[in-house]
Amino acid sequence: MRFPLYRPRRLRQNARLRALVRETELSVDHLVMPLFVREGTKVRKPITSMQGQFQLSVDQAVKEAGQALKLGVPAVILFGIPDKKDEKASAAYDSNGIVPKAVRALKKELPELIVVTDVCLCEYMSHGHCGVVRKSFRGREAVIDNDASLTLLAKAALAYAEAGADIVAPSDMMDGRVGAIRAALDKTGFADTPIMSYAAKFASAFYGPFREAAESAPQFGDRKTYQMDAANAEEALREVALDIEEGADIVMVKPALAYLDLIWRVKEKFGYPVAVYNVSGEYAMIKAAAQNGWLDEKQAVLEMMTGFRRAGADIILTYWAQDLARWLKT
Ligand code: PBG
Repeated sequence: MRFPLYRPRRLRQNARLRALVRETELSVDHLVMPLFVREGTKVRKPITSMQGQFQLSVDQAVKEAGQALKLGVPAVILFGIPDKKDEKASAAYDSNGIVPKAVRALKKELPELIVVTDVCLCEYMSHGHCGVVRKSFRGREAVIDNDASLTLLAKAALAYAEAGADIVAPSDMMDGRVGAIRAALDKTGFADTPIMSYAAKFASAFYGPFREAAESAPQFGDRKTYQMDAANAEEALREVALDIEEGADIVMVKPALAYLDLIWRVKEKFGYPVAVYNVSGEYAMIKAAAQNGWLDEKQAVLEMMTGFRRAGADIILTYWAQDLARWLKT
């Protein structure tokens, strides 16, 4: 044996000793709270598959974000649910669309809140895909026009930056979108607006509840021609490398639980700020188990979040942001 005198339990004898040697800290400073915003006033529509989460009108989103900020949550990420969808995602880049409206209201009422906007087309497309559809299928695969989608994504990112977004976060997985968005921002005076790229985003069953929340399920086919294959880690590293070359400031791995190896590898290889998205399905399964009394929600969530940080995540996007802020205070 290499360390015959080492008895690891010596340093586990009480809470203070354990804290003294703790390697990983979890704090509210790293959390981003997702918000689903829709038209109207005083709307608080529960999302059945995501207990405790709501579609909110702008006034309510401001209220919710205000509460979170008071608890110490520094940032929100916005997803828009427009009244009208079409085949060119017009509401995604309309400067009076739901997200720009929400951004303006949030920045006016809560100027110190970091407002991140998800940049994608699926919530705004009548067919629910993240890009422009040229024809429904080639064989069994949905056909998305990559470069036509880039133009619309860049327009959306610009509309959000103009409304005052602090960070834009493309989640569509088209090739070249970080570069297209960076170029569009740079030439219009938004060179200082950071891009948080959903760089390694996998085609995942764990997005199920979100698609109810954002009303964005694809009407035909699936997202496998643009989101990544769950089996590929080397490819994920190439995706991250591309996004960094194109100007990403923060790179994201998504979902979280089944992809902890990638958080670690991305952090090790690139040393960039890494975000992880603790997605809707991961939220729903713990909520369901907790509701049945099968596990302790608070302990399970704290353990999971610590795991993300231990794996190398700097930023955690989570529907538990406000709960965590409360739990971490006591
Ligand atoms: C939009 C988008 C999705 C999520 C974040 N942005 C859904 C999807 O790609 O189908 C999922 C978030 C979650 O499940 O919590 N493209």
